[in-house]
Order: sequence, then structure tokens, then C-alpha cells
Amino acid sequence: MQAMSSSLQIVLLPQQAAVKLRLGIFLISAAIFVATAAAEVSNSSCNRTCGSLEIPYPFGTSKGCYFNLSFLITCKSSSSSSTSTPTPYLRVSNIKVLNISLDGELRVSASVARDCPQKSNYNSSKNNTNLTLQKFPISYSKNVFTAIGCDTMGLISSSASDKNYMTGCVSLCDSIDNMVNGSCSGIGCCQTPIPDGIKDLNVLAGSLENHSKVMKFNPCSFAFVVEEKAYKFSTLDLQNMQGKRAFPLVLDWAVGKQTCKDAKKNTIEYACKAANSECYDSTNGPGYRCNCSLGYDGNPYLSRGCKDIDECNTPNHGCAVNAICVNHMGSYSCSCPIGYQGDGWRNGSSCTPVIPKPSNSKNIIIALCISISLLVLLLGGSSVLFGLKRRKLIKLQEKYFQQNGGLMLQEHILNHGRSMETTKIFSNDELKKATNNYDESRVLGKGGYGTVYKGVLPDNKVVAIKKSKVCDKSQIEQFINEVILLNQINHRNVVKLLGCCLETEVPLLVYEFITNGTLSDHIHDISRASPLSWERRLKIATETARALAYLHSETSMPIIHRDVKSTNILLDDNHTAKVADFGASRLIALDQTEITTLVQGTLGYLDPEYFQTGQLTEKSDVYSFGVVLAELLTGEEAISTNRPETYKNLAMYFVSAVKEDRLLHILQDHIVNEANIEPLKEVANLAKGCLRLRGEDRPTMMEVAMELEGLRNMEKHPWGKDNQTTEETEYLLSTPTLPFNIDIGVGSSASAVSGHDSMINQLLKPLDDGR
Ligand SMILES: *[C@@H]1O[C@H](CO)[C@@H](O)[C@H](O)[C@H]1NC(C)=O
Ligand SMILES: *[C@@H]1O[C@H](CO)[C@@H](O)[C@H](O)[C@H]1NC(C)=O
Ligand SMILES: *[C@@H]1O[C@H](CO)[C@@H](O)[C@H](O)[C@H]1NC(C)=O
Repeated sequence: MQAMSSSLQIVLLPQQAAVKLRLGIFLISAAIFVATAAAEVSNSSCNRTCGSLEIPYPFGTSKGCYFNLSFLITCKSSSSSSTSTPTPYLRVSNIKVLNISLDGELRVSASVARDCPQKSNYNSSKNNTNLTLQKFPISYSKNVFTAIGCDTMGLISSSASDKNYMTGCVSLCDSIDNMVNGSCSGIGCCQTPIPDGIKDLNVLAGSLENHSKVMKFNPCSFAFVVEEKAYKFSTLDLQNMQGKRAFPLVLDWAVGKQTCKDAKKNTIEYACKAANSECYDSTNGPGYRCNCSLGYDGNPYLSRGCKDIDECNTPNHGCAVNAICVNHMGSYSCSCPIGYQGDGWRNGSSCTPVIPKPSNSKNIIIALCISISLLVLLLGGSSVLFGLKRRKLIKLQEKYFQQNGGLMLQEHILNHGRSMETTKIFSNDELKKATNNYDESRVLGKGGYGTVYKGVLPDNKVVAIKKSKVCDKSQIEQFINEVILLNQINHRNVVKLLGCCLETEVPLLVYEFITNGTLSDHIHDISRASPLSWERRLKIATETARALAYLHSETSMPIIHRDVKSTNILLDDNHTAKVADFGASRLIALDQTEITTLVQGTLGYLDPEYFQTGQLTEKSDVYSFGVVLAELLTGEEAISTNRPETYKNLAMYFVSAVKEDRLLHILQDHIVNEANIEPLKEVANLAKGCLRLRGEDRPTMMEVAMELEGLRNMEKHPWGKDNQTTEETEYLLSTPTLPFNIDIGVGSSASAVSGHDSMINQLLKPLDDGR
């Protein structure tokens, strides 16, 4: 395996420089990985049972089916009769295996030590228990040493382990009368715990006076180590253990001798193969274990072993009785149906109908009659006043409409009727109603740029409405042009602009509502239940690249996004990427506090060549996209003071690591597994290409998109996993989202960007001074 991956590396190295399609290589590497992965865990041909025992990987009965020899289970059929069920043994020992669980427990059968002195009916016999486990320690938390008898001393010792120790307990009594079933407090039965980390056992039973005084009811002494739950003392055991000769003993199994931290460094040997799995250090001796992340279950040792749990199909999910439960990958959500209010969770406020039931008292009817007549009187008077106010408002709205370029837009719609069929000019009233008069509870997010509200249109369509803070009057024409242009974009990976409202002091923009927050949240918010898997990251990268390639080359006029960053990539419930895009930058007020937040938000993604020359080309987006790729690969922030001074900038940190062949050290731990090292390297090289200093040397967005697409197909096909159906249903689901702050440039002509250049120059200044 080692040899194979290093030879692959040699094949790929010369390719690093050229960023072009290398589908041939993908095919070869993918094919090799299928082959090696199959050799490692050929689950189809492996025998996964022995008698009634289920044998999950990493355990196995034959070569190629277990992780390493420690996990060998020998399955033997007893030679005497051919029909008897076969018996599983631990490795090559004669220790019978009873049960294997993936949470690190292994039950074996351990015999009972006994001592029956001369005069007993059971012939004089003395039998010790000797157990040598070698690899897996005996669980100190689950087992207990137990001795049974009324003239009994039980001893337990261990020598082969690192620890030499001996302990025991004594049980003395003279009649059965004062014994209590189930109690091992030294009368008839005594117990004592065992220490951690022991891997062998020697158990001895003995007596002090050869049972001479208690022979009638207790002829023998017994001693054994047993799973605490599996043994309950009964006075009947004093005779002959009711014939029981062995008890279950729990072992704590773990992989290897390393801690998680060390084990992760060797990705080939690392046993937690599943995406969405986590590593835990063993609590009893060296080694580590794997578990599926929260929200997933299955076998974390298999590369596709951890499956999403459909919580909504489990009986005790946390949604309130009449709430709607929606399953997501690794989590789920509850919400109240339309017409109900509440947060939908069982422990929160359950769903109640919005309209309170009228109570059926007569008084209410009388009160109603009175108030209606009063109302009629009042209305008569106030309608005159109201009419005057209303007219004033309408006039103001008309004024704003004109100020905001409404006539210009209307004219355009008239001239280009068909192509503008999706542009909607919303009225102020409509949006007020949609946002419940811009109610605080509808705010999705606030920032230097303004406020984003969640709105519900009369047809129940959920939208995001952006209300900017200040509008620069000189750029109204620009703004209208952008609204028109962006409205024509119809790409599934671009957030759709639905329309705008010009009747307010600042124009309002109405967007498609994206449900699952920003990519940045998903990468950097450690409080999220489960991190994005590599497959998902690759999907998001591919979709983003596709969207940018489309903006660059397939729209009537090339559109340069100019602010590609992880906070501008929104995700819906199926983790489909939506590049958020509109001309909001024009609307950003240039006061001091907002500049600093903008610098922080965008620095780290800005193309250095564009910084220096002021020349904007599509390649600036390619650079920014390269930073997003690096972010996806490393899980690091684009700018972080946690890194050394020279590597504050992720682009520099990333490129130097790739150049020095340290890629494996900087990749985010959980995305790396044996099967995706090569694809990860490919993507890293692609990111490096995007981050070249000279724009000319960078690939085009189209090339990037095609290369990612190729890689994704490679990942998808060998295992036949295809999530097309989920992609198609993605528009149907929705839950709350975060706001977007997007900055997009239209066209590459100098005039189109002049307004923004001066801003960038201003942004640069404090940075230079600060160095
Ligand atoms: C093995 O473990 C499973 C799950 O913990 C349990 O249902 C089963 O009864 C166990 N079998 C034995 C023989 O202990
Ligand atoms: C010990 O126990 C085994 C069965 O568990 C039995 O076959 C053997 O004879 C015993 N040895 C002695 C010395 O009693
Ligand atoms: C303990 O339980 C057994 C039956 O399980 C019973 O025969 C015996 O009398 C009980 N002993 C005491 C002391 O309760």
C-alpha cells in the first residue's frame, strides 16, 4: 500500500505545474484506489458471522477481512460432530468470544476457579483460571472480581502485564440464614474491583478450614472475574454454582498503540475511515477507538460506514406533537406548520394555532355590538384625516420611486418585455406586509451594509429582503443596470434576484431565500454538530466554480463577482452552493467603522495583482476562488492571527505548504482518508494554480470547474453513490438562513468599476500603514 501511493505521487508530481484537464490520470488513480480499498476491507466475500456471533470490521475471520492480526477471530467447528454450530475464539487462543460491540467492548467467556476439599461430594479438586489476553485489556469499569463461599478466600493476580499485582477477598459465614440474594458484602459472597490495564488473569479459590464447618450447605469455594451486570449472587450458588462453569468477561478493545493525535498522522493506517467519524483515545491502556459523529451511526471503521440517522423516523425525536420534522444530514429540525406558532420543539413552545379561539360568552357578543357601532362613528371622522395622510405617503413613495431610477427600470421593462419577465418591481406596501412592517423578529442579519429581513409574499413564497443603509445617489443608474443584468442570471448555483422595490428612500432588493447559512459558517463554526465531509466540500467547490464560470463566460456581458469568499457562498438544505451576487457594494456607506469591517471581511481573498495594478479581470475571481478552495481543504480562516505572522494570509500559508510537500500536515484532519488522498492532492494543486501571483498564469474559471467536475465524477462513480434525487428536491425545503453581504462588479470596463476602485485604494491605506 505504502509503495503504491508513493509511486502514484511520482506520476503526479510533474503534472503539478500544468493546470489543465487531466482526466486520464484521474481514471488511473481512481482505479488503483478502488483496487486497494477493496483489498483492505473486502466486505462482500468476508464471513461476518461465526455461529450466532456477529463479527463487524475491524474484526474478521480471515486475511483481508480484519484490520490487523489483533482482530482475528478464529472460527472452529468442533470436530466431534459435523452438525454442531462453530465456535469463535479470540485470535489463536482457546478463549471463546461471546459478543463484539463497535463501542469498544468484547465479551469473552472466563471459567470459574474452584476448590472442593477432600470430604466434599464433588471429589477433591482444585481448578485455577488462567487467562492470557495479550492484546486487549480487561475492562476495570465493567468487571468485578467475585468469590463465593462460607469458608472462602479468592485471589486474583496478574503478572504478564506492565502491572504486577495481587488482591483478593474473603467470605466467611456459618449459616445461610443471614445471607441476602443479590448482595456481595462478604457474607457468602465478596467482591472487589480490578485495576485498569491488565491483560492477563490468574484466579485462585481457596479455603481456610477446608469447609469443615459449612460442608452441608457449602462444599466448595469459587472465584471468578465477571461482568458486573451478568452475575447476581444467589444462595443456591453456594452448592455448586448451579452448574455454571464460566461467566462473561468484558474486554476493552482498541486499535493500535497510538493516541488519536499520532494515529491521524498516518492516514493510511488510521482506522477511522468513515466520513463523519471521530476518534477517541482508549480509556483503558493504549490505542484509540472510532465512533460515528453525532447524528450518524454505523461502522466508523469502514470508509462509507457512518450513515445519517433519520431522526424523524425515530420514535423519540424532539419535535412537538403537531410539528413538522425535517431530516438533514447529521441533524434534523422541527418547525410549526403554516397557521401555527411556536418553535416546534417538544421542550420549547409547542405549535399552537395562530388565531385564538373566540370564547362563546354572550357578553362578548354584546360588547362587540357596542364596539362596532362606536367604530362606525369613529371611522367616519377619521377617514377624512386618514385619506389626507395616505395621499401624502403616496406622493413620497412616488418621489422615491423616481429618485431610485424607477422610471428607467420601467422603461427597460417596457422595451425588453420578454427578457424581463422575472423582474418584479415590488410596492412598498407589499414588502411591508411581507416583513410584518420590518418587524425585529424577521431580521435575518445585520451588518455594515444594512439589514436583511425574511419576508413571506402573499403566495407564501419565502424571500430575503435587503434594506441597505445609505444609497449613493450618483450610482443609481449603475444600480438599475445591475438589477437588470442580475435578473437575467438564471443559474441553479447563483442566488436569484427576484426583484426590487424603489418606493422607499433606499431601494430594497428581493432575493430567493436560502435556508442553510453560509459556507463559512459550515467550515468555521465549530459548534456545528457535524463538519462538512470531503465529498460535500468537493460538491460545493464544483458548484461554486460552475456558477463563476457561468458568470464569466455565459452571460451576455461578463460579470466579475469581485468578492468571492466563503461568506458569500450560501448553502441550502442539501448543501447545494448558491453564490450570492448583486450590486450591493454601491450601497455601502463609506463611514469609518464600516470600512474596517469590510477590510476584515474581504482581505485575504483579494487578488494581489488587482491590488497593485487596479486592473480587474476574471482572473481576480479565480484567485479568490483559490482561497476558498484552500479554506475547504484546510478548514483555516482566510486571515488568521493564530498562524505565524508570515502565514497570516491563508493563500501564502497554503501555497508554501504545498510547495514544501507538507500538504498532509495542513489538510483538515477529518476530511483525509486513504481513499481520497490523491483527489485531495489534485484539488490542492488546482488551488495552488488559482493562487498564482500573475493572473495570466491562473487557469480560467471554466477550466477550474471542469477539473473539479472530473474529480467529482471520479469520486462518485467507483462507489456508485449518486445523490441526484436529493439535488432535485432541494428547492422544496426551507428553514432560516443568514444574511448575505455581496459585492459584485459588472463588466470589465473601467467606467463600470471606477467607483469601487477608489474604495479599494482607501481600504489599502490603513493596511500599509499598519505594517
Ligand atoms: C451481545 O450484545 C448485544 C448488544 O449489546 C446484546 O443484544 C446481546 O444479547 C449480547 N449477546 C450476548 C451473548 O451477550
Ligand atoms: C478443571 O476443570 C475442567 C473443566 O472446566 C475439568 O475438565 C478438569 O478436570 C478440572 N481440573 C481439575 C484438576 O479438577
Ligand atoms: C434466593 O433465591 C433463591 C431462588 O432464586 C431461593 O431459593 C432462596 O431461598 C433465596 N435465598 C434467600 C436468602 O432469600
